[in-house]
Amino acid sequence: MSENTFNADLSVNIAGVRFRNPVIAASGTFGYGKEYSAMTDISVLGGICTKGLTLTPRTGNKGRRVWETPSGMLNSVGLENPGVHYFIENDLPHLRQLGPVIIANLSGGEPDEYIKGASVLNESSVDMIELNISCPNIKAGGMAFGLDPGTAAVLVAAVKRVCTKKPLMVKLSPNAPSVSAVSLSCVRAGADALSLMNSYKSMAIDTATRKPVFENIIAGLSGPAIRPIALCMVWELFNTLKEAKANVPIVGIGGIACTNDALEFLMAGATAVQVGSATFVNPNTMAEIIGGVHNYLVENKMSNISDISIRN
Ligand SMILES: Cc1cc2nc3c(=O)[nH]c(=O)nc-3n(C[C@H](O)[C@H](O)[C@H](O)COP(=O)(O)O)c2cc1C
Repeated sequence: MSENTFNADLSVNIAGVRFRNPVIAASGTFGYGKEYSAMTDISVLGGICTKGLTLTPRTGNKGRRVWETPSGMLNSVGLENPGVHYFIENDLPHLRQLGPVIIANLSGGEPDEYIKGASVLNESSVDMIELNISCPNIKAGGMAFGLDPGTAAVLVAAVKRVCTKKPLMVKLSPNAPSVSAVSLSCVRAGADALSLMNSYKSMAIDTATRKPVFENIIAGLSGPAIRPIALCMVWELFNTLKEAKANVPIVGIGGIACTNDALEFLMAGATAVQVGSATFVNPNTMAEIIGGVHNYLVENKMSNISDISIRN
């Protein structure tokens, strides 16, 4: 086959759901699809994770919500969202027409809120649910469920019981004392896929006012600053799952801003990647990464994305 007719298959399968390519918009950085439609071609994306949804609407955190930091940003949005019912009636029909796989990111303050939210989404047309047990900037719930293996397992098992029609991807926290222990307990409790990582617990102080920048004090660090840490966590998670003979796909997240970054995560064992903060800088980042990964495969005579793996 000559170079210019060689084509590579970028499609991946995550928990039975086919993505046309492994590039997914990360939760909270791409709204509900509409927000970016005038700035980039959304139809080329592999998937879209919605902003974190809760059973009932939330107004989010008060005060400052974002803060720039070297090679990254801190956010304290605090799960502002219209609630699952509004989302299903008003946003999902539009999202469904765009083409990419639709993943509903679900959060909650207490287990019952997660379970009820999952039951509602289970009856909707979303393709997958991403269970956010890793949000560092809400006062109750969120990350609190993702730090301890036992607590995480109880929640995942309870959500899985009602999630009968949708694959369940669990979004892990980099702040857990043992990400391996939490990940294995989530898998044993029924997680069909794991995404890693959410933003890193962080803070900033305004020295002029001598007050923390964020009303909630703790915020989440994202962007290129966290990329090497996220990559290492994905690599360790991949090896943990391999040792445990757990055949569960990983979606790598954290500071991915260009083709090379995405390739690193795919080589470290991720089946797909999510791109968040980089989209704020360049709305075409994901489209460029998709093209770049395709070119890399063609240049290296690989016909399938699954041929990408690390040499060590
Ligand atoms: C402004 C903002 C809002 C976010 N909201 C959510 C959210 O609602 N749910 C969630 O699981 N992650 C949320 N995240 C975390 C991202 O999905 C992602 O895990 C994190 O930003 C790391 O990826 P990045 O470095 O590519 O941004 C948010 C991140 C940012 C920057």
